[in-house]
Amino acid sequence: MAATAFIVLAAGIGSRMASDQPKVLHRAGGRSLLGHVLNAVKALAPAEVCVVVGPDMDAVKAEAETVVPNVRTVIQSERNGTAHAARMAKDALQDFAGTIVVMFGDGPLVRPETLTELVSVIENGADMALVGFEAADPQGYGRFILKDGALTAIREENDASEAERKITLCNSGITAAGADLLWPLLARIGNDNAQGEYYLTDLVELAVADGRQVAHSICSEQEVQGVNSRAQLAEIEARLQDEYREKAMAGGATLIAPQTVFLSHDTTIGRGVVIEPHVVILAGVTIGDGAVVRAFSHLEGAEIGPGCVVGPYARLRPGARLAKGAKVGNFVEIKNADLEQGSKVNHLSYIGDARVGQGANIGAGTITCNYDGFNKHFTDIGKGAFVGSNSALVAPVKIGDGAFVGSGSVVTRDVAEDALTVARGRQEDRPGWSAKFRAIQSKSKKKS
Ligand code: UD1
Ligand code: CA
Repeated sequence: MAATAFIVLAAGIGSRMASDQPKVLHRAGGRSLLGHVLNAVKALAPAEVCVVVGPDMDAVKAEAETVVPNVRTVIQSERNGTAHAARMAKDALQDFAGTIVVMFGDGPLVRPETLTELVSVIENGADMALVGFEAADPQGYGRFILKDGALTAIREENDASEAERKITLCNSGITAAGADLLWPLLARIGNDNAQGEYYLTDLVELAVADGRQVAHSICSEQEVQGVNSRAQLAEIEARLQDEYREKAMAGGATLIAPQTVFLSHDTTIGRGVVIEPHVVILAGVTIGDGAVVRAFSHLEGAEIGPGCVVGPYARLRPGARLAKGAKVGNFVEIKNADLEQGSKVNHLSYIGDARVGQGANIGAGTITCNYDGFNKHFTDIGKGAFVGSNSALVAPVKIGDGAFVGSGSVVTRDVAEDALTVARGRQEDRPGWSAKFRAIQSKSKKKS
């Protein structure tokens, strides 16, 4: 494929989102809308990617840079229409001579295949090419005006006649043309229309008038579904979730109740994994072959090794790394901690900023006290150590390999390898005390 550049328009504030953040930063499937679009763009290995942002949109710029490190961002100070926005990219792309694709930043479901197909239409000789779709309800979209099957113009809703409004073949907004054609045509677009905006869609009529060949390809309506409201954002989320669930199941995972399991764009799930109902998996999670994630668990930024068992009701936070066969049970929170092979934290614990050595057993209710109000400290638990229930390990602290910690201990000093430490009030026994106590009390009890 010849060199391709992309201009992604993302200056819209999305007023119907009723939000303080730019529309394209809203998230679905654990990633921003813009992130999804740029990821599809990235799959074509483009020579240049330029994102057009509004003023005060540093966060959009930063998000674009995380997905495409060498992205260019340009600012559109006034929102004067899609053609006006595209023009903003001219200086940034002045040295680029190949095919330029202009698209929108709020359509996260677009597939790389659709973009590749569009570019190939240009490579096969068309001067300009656009992606259209059959709309179930075309209201609000620009309509494709065809003559003998060829695209001759696009009419925006507000400028369309009664007859034109009946057309269901609509414009997705994805438009490709050679740089040598795009820039001069963009410069000629005026704003003499119902909205007083510079319409990108006017490119078509201008190109046709110049005797250029304008072609179009077709994709599904759902693929170019944009986000204009929170309700549409939820629809996109639902579609993405269905896609992720299907991919997980096709890869050999059992999702007992798929509709109740929420995954992210980057969730990696091995073969033979079982995910029970009502599990939420945010970004950055890997689940190894044969692992089981029990009901009502919440996972983020966690690595779960093969054969691990997690939950029910477990919370794995970023940096939780479970090696092969480790077990994390109910009401356990793990953060930034390595659980080495076969170690167990089965009930009601918080393990943060820690290492739990191979085969170590952490008793119910054990807490790593990792934070002193100012800094976080590390707890190192050795191989085969046994920490009795309800212990508090006050970090920084080290429990040696094979050491025992008596239940209910508050451990503030390191424990040597193979030692026993007991750090709690000593048990005192008074034989017969209760019987005497009861006898005295019952004599003094008044009749009521
Ligand atoms: C646009 C198309 C319409 C198409 C529809 C598909 C035009 C004139 N119309 O209409 O044919 O059917 O998309 O969804 O192109 N933007 C800017 N700066 C601006 C204006 C827009 O960056 O000054 C960005 C927006 O952030 C948005 C995109 O361009 O991501 C589309 O703009 P929008 O106003 O939503 O266009 P539509 O009216 O939906
Ligand atoms: Ca729109």
